[in-house]
Amino acid sequence: MSLTNFSAGGLSPAATPATKVTIPALAEMKRQLKPISALTAYDYATARLVDEAGIDMILVGDSLAMVVMGHDNTLAITVDEMLHHTRAVRRAVRRALVVADMPFGSYHATVAEGVTNAVRFVKEAGAEAVKIEGPRVELVRALTEAEIPVVAHLGLTPQSVHRMGGYRVQARTAEAVRQLKADALALAEAGAGVMVLEGVPREVAAAITAELPIPTIGIGAGPECDGQILVFHDLVNLSFSPQAKFVRRYADASALFRSAMEHYREDVEHRTFPSDAESYHLPDSARQALGPRTA
Ligand code: KIV
Repeated sequence: MSLTNFSAGGLSPAATPATKVTIPALAEMKRQLKPISALTAYDYATARLVDEAGIDMILVGDSLAMVVMGHDNTLAITVDEMLHHTRAVRRAVRRALVVADMPFGSYHATVAEGVTNAVRFVKEAGAEAVKIEGPRVELVRALTEAEIPVVAHLGLTPQSVHRMGGYRVQARTAEAVRQLKADALALAEAGAGVMVLEGVPREVAAAITAELPIPTIGIGAGPECDGQILVFHDLVNLSFSPQAKFVRRYADASALFRSAMEHYREDVEHRTFPSDAESYHLPDSARQALGPRTA
């Protein structure tokens, strides 16, 4: 096995060397009108698959609180839990930009605390950017000064679920649209490198995408954004929640996994697993030494 190959235990084929995706590379994609693909991942195996599929940006999203840990919303997850998942993803990824989501409470009290926590994601987990929700212009400026690239997130920001009164499409009045545009421009001016727009009308996302100098990544924000992001578990039907309008399911992993596990259980119950070929055997010398009963 070559040292340049990326392969766990030599079990899988070598990944093709590819140019690392960076924040400037995403800006260049916007300039060249090349759509940016993004997905969430929370663990090593999924992150390897996402990276090897050529997805440009991987977000270790706090959505893992819901889809992996079973919480009703994203608020409970901690910095230490997010660090743990970010490390696993980082170990898997060679090409995509790895973005860590800053969890609720880790940047809401003071700018200084936000910077301190963001540094942990870079230093302790290898994140290449952090994502923060809401129009926190001073924090974005401070993170930028601290050399930490920022993915901003506006529109439906799940960490504001209690203020919003639920997960509702945002920017549906002229005043709210004007405010969203102003916030987006202020965040870009403060140094944000990418803007996630979630749960906003298509027309609003299109107008912001046209005005903003940085790439927009939409989720429930229509096709005119510079890129799209989905939660991996929604993409493959592993999220156990009603399908949102903006989700397209590309595979039914629930059905696939259920069927695999049912077959396995049946094979165990019928003693057809493991077979003789799937068993280890004594060498002939040991067999002979032990005599016919053991053999
Ligand atoms: O946590 C997450 O997965 C996200 C995406 C939905 C953008 O914030």
